[in-house]
Amino acid sequence: MAPIKNGRVLFNEVPEGLPVAGKTTIYDESHTIDIDIIPLNGGFVAKLLSISVDPYLRGRMRKPEKKSYSNPFTLGEPISNYAVSVVLRSEDDSVKPGDHVYGLFPYQEYSVLTKAQIMRTLDNKENLPWSLFVGILGMTGQTAYYAWKEYAQAKAGETAFISAAAGAVGATVVQFAKADGMKVIASSGSEEKVELAKSMGADVSFNYKTSETAEVLQKEGPISVYWDNVGGPTLEAAIENASTGARFIECGMISGYNGESYFVKNLMQIVGKQLHIHGFIVGYLGPKYDEEFYSTVPARVASGEIKYKEHVYKGLEGASQAIVDVQSGANFGKAVIVVAEQ
Ligand SMILES: NC(=O)c1ccc[n+]([C@@H]2O[C@H](COP(=O)([O-])OP(=O)(O)OC[C@H]3O[C@@H](n4cnc5c(N)ncnc54)[C@H](OP(=O)(O)O)[C@@H]3O)[C@@H](O)[C@H]2O)c1
Repeated sequence: MAPIKNGRVLFNEVPEGLPVAGKTTIYDESHTIDIDIIPLNGGFVAKLLSISVDPYLRGRMRKPEKKSYSNPFTLGEPISNYAVSVVLRSEDDSVKPGDHVYGLFPYQEYSVLTKAQIMRTLDNKENLPWSLFVGILGMTGQTAYYAWKEYAQAKAGETAFISAAAGAVGATVVQFAKADGMKVIASSGSEEKVELAKSMGADVSFNYKTSETAEVLQKEGPISVYWDNVGGPTLEAAIENASTGARFIECGMISGYNGESYFVKNLMQIVGKQLHIHGFIVGYLGPKYDEEFYSTVPARVASGEIKYKEHVYKGLEGASQAIVDVQSGANFGKAVIVVAEQ
């Protein structure tokens, strides 16, 4: 086989504030690969099918000396994220051509990988689109499923508030809260997102850009669970309107990822209201919930019981813009790059 193009997305510059498409990350087509002869060194070569675009990628676009829970990207190298690839050729007996593998892989059409990079070999008994395995059936769905189970202590009749509720994680949490019999208040950043959160089951769905979050919570609360995706003034409003003993699931604080941090001014209420604040990183809950998740959730998605919305970008060429879209709210559903169908 002749060498073929091997498109990839490179980390080009540490951003100040919001990343800039074509500047922070760039699409590069200068490399080629010959699948038949590329040295595998005991590993395998795989073709990228779908790769996730997530808010936390912003945190990896940093100088290496800055410490965080996730690894920083290396300037001049492909960025990486949760992905599904199909194995084309292998020198590892436990990894077969045709296997669909999930793991943290480079934003690159073809990569030589090792067994250690595989987090799971997917069976896909329900024959679902592979893109779902980086979304509702990947890290995103796991985030919602694991932390809701671990921390929500949901009680029917109580009220939950979910921010970024039309997003990948948020829209899933809305459904779990509803299924547990809670009244669900959902905030999001556009009218079409407000409708989406409603269609996922939210009882009160509002646009935080045109309505005052604190006023909505005062009217519809108090809240017993807050699923925080955004931090900032929204977190302040949630604390203000929390009931005694409320559970706060601190999933993310995207309002501060691209600019100055906002200092929440009413933290002392955590003491008086005896709030339970649970920060978490999904990977650490994996050993407890992975098997339960993969053995039950794909069937629930296939049956339509768990709903999802994807925002599909075709090809790595659009990846840099997709990254910016997720940081700025221009995505409408789980952002995923579909590089190839099969
Ligand atoms: N702890 C973990 O292990 C873990 C794992 C996965 C994700 N997360 C976190 O979960 C959150 C949601 O992630 P996701 O993958 O579901 O992304 P997403 O909601 O699909 O996309 C991000 C959304 O955040 C909202 N947003 C952006 N800037 C904002 C701002 N300044 N203020 C308020 N909202 C803003 C936008 O929605 P609007 O248009 O509605 O503003 C945007 O669409 C993020 O904070 C992420 O870091 C955490």
